[in-house]
Amino acid sequence: MAIAVYPGSFDPFTYGHLDIAIRAAKMFETVHVVVVHNPNKKPRFSAVQRVEMIREILDNEKGNFIVNSFDTGLLVDYCKTVNADALVKGIRTNVDLDYELPMAQVNRDLSGIETVFIPADPVHGFVSSSLVKQVADLGGDISKYVPESVARKLRG
Ligand code: PNS
Repeated sequence: MAIAVYPGSFDPFTYGHLDIAIRAAKMFETVHVVVVHNPNKKPRFSAVQRVEMIREILDNEKGNFIVNSFDTGLLVDYCKTVNADALVKGIRTNVDLDYELPMAQVNRDLSGIETVFIPADPVHGFVSSSLVKQVADLGGDISKYVPESVARKLRG
């Protein structure tokens, strides 16, 4: 039974993230979508809020999803705890690849776990959580980029 971990800040979860989660669920029997604390980022939403938002979204999708958060220690330790076979990451551009490749290599070096890169659908190629927050803060239409439940929370 293949288990994947799809980690990220997900602040907030976009349609790009949703697409990767759904496609991962077609390849893996269980997909853990894990909100991970990134010390380099100051989140808009708490980990509890992000987990709740993602659960609500994935409840309506086909696939065996488990949504959790994780804020201490190594991601590979979480992977070991849940017996994960692979990590999943979405790749939009070469910038993502430059950022993700060393993480994939160190995670494999630390634990043997492989990372599966899923190329983003070009439709979502420019969608990022930070851009979505900026557009929302400046009063722009974000309905194409995030599910309605997320858009409502971003609008306050
Ligand atoms: O969505 P993000 O912020 O780009 O996700 C990055 C994240 C949180 C997945 C990455 O920073 C991470 O894996 N953090 C966990 C701590 C860890 O294990 N670090 C060492 C290997 S990368």
